[in-house]
Amino acid sequence: MHTSLRRLVSLCALATISALTISARRMEPRLGSGFALTPRVDNGLARTPPMGWNSWNKFGCNVSEQLIRETADAIAASGMRDAGYQYITIDDCWQVARAPQGTIVPDSTRFPHGIKALADYVHGKGLKFGIYTDAGRKTCEGRPGSYGYEAIDAKTYAAWGVDYVKIDWCNAEGLDAKTQYTIFRDALASSGRKIVFSICEWGSNQPWEWASDVGNLWRTTGDIADRWSSVMTLVDLSSQYWHVARPGAWNDPDMLEVGNGGMTRTEYRAHFSLWAMMAAPLIAGNDVRVMMDSSRAAADIRDILLNKDVIAVDQDSLGIQGKIVQASPSELQVWVKPLKDGSRAVLLFNRASVPSTITANFGRIGLKTKRARVRDLWTHTDSASVENAFTAPVPSHGVVMLRIWPIAE
Ligand code: GLA
Repeated sequence: MHTSLRRLVSLCALATISALTISARRMEPRLGSGFALTPRVDNGLARTPPMGWNSWNKFGCNVSEQLIRETADAIAASGMRDAGYQYITIDDCWQVARAPQGTIVPDSTRFPHGIKALADYVHGKGLKFGIYTDAGRKTCEGRPGSYGYEAIDAKTYAAWGVDYVKIDWCNAEGLDAKTQYTIFRDALASSGRKIVFSICEWGSNQPWEWASDVGNLWRTTGDIADRWSSVMTLVDLSSQYWHVARPGAWNDPDMLEVGNGGMTRTEYRAHFSLWAMMAAPLIAGNDVRVMMDSSRAAADIRDILLNKDVIAVDQDSLGIQGKIVQASPSELQVWVKPLKDGSRAVLLFNRASVPSTITANFGRIGLKTKRARVRDLWTHTDSASVENAFTAPVPSHGVVMLRIWPIAE
């Protein structure tokens, strides 16, 4: 090619790339940090991170219509529904076979009235109903998978009144994750019902690079366990992809373990606060039926799962995933999440095995003013005017979570 022509072609290419970049940034101005944008699935759902409950963490395969009904009752009665927990999802093991014509067959012993009647019951409680399947040939527990049955399953779910589907990735050898999940996205789009799409391939195919165009949330990690080391592993993985999250498209570091007994109250508070800072889905995984009793343990769980100040950070409509702005030494961290009203959620997080004091300097957390109003989101107390920095003692494996409003000079 002639040199000047080649130069013209490369100039045009450059101009096109810049124009695309500028228009992408115009659409998503807050992502103008050098990261490539993927489009967002076009179903209008999950504009804030989904909230709800899922059977797996506590009950595993021991699911039944009685459990789901009692859970829906408890979620309505405990104040969880009013705090935003919406989707009640049956995880693995509700299905047993495929009928000769291909439709999925629920376990008729555990779900004697069928799934539609159960969805109707959940809807009658003012809640939404979710279900689980697997994009491969079988689920992780060996139940029939949806591979090859995507369209028929999506239609069945729609006919039952399903509002949310979690799709796992076991027994998918030789299949391409993006291709299979895209087939499901299109099947759900043609099903005639708006269904939130939760992708669960454990971060094994870099979903942060493609999944926002396919589903509303995608797991970034393997399964959570009810212990501190697991929570730390998931935080370290999911926090890396903060730049990809936005309304309708969320990183999912897995469901909550709050209330399952394997961590201290301090650790469960940190777990819940970190999920809120990461704009993670808040899917409770405990036995909510025992949350209403008069024990101290039940009160502690309620204080965490029903903390409206912390939930408001997670559910903020700006939809920005918080990130670490200070980690020196690495175990004493400051996290920041900008919020819609111009305030910032700030987390002082002590990962060390001894108590410590952590300071958030206003400049470091992006405040432009010298003075600010500070609310502690766990003690629910306010400091009317704080100058330059906020310092607090933080227990081992604990957090101090703040909301900070700048005060104009
Ligand atoms: C996988 C998922 C879990 C759960 C189980 C069910 O491990 O990651 O969340 O759904 O399968 O078998």
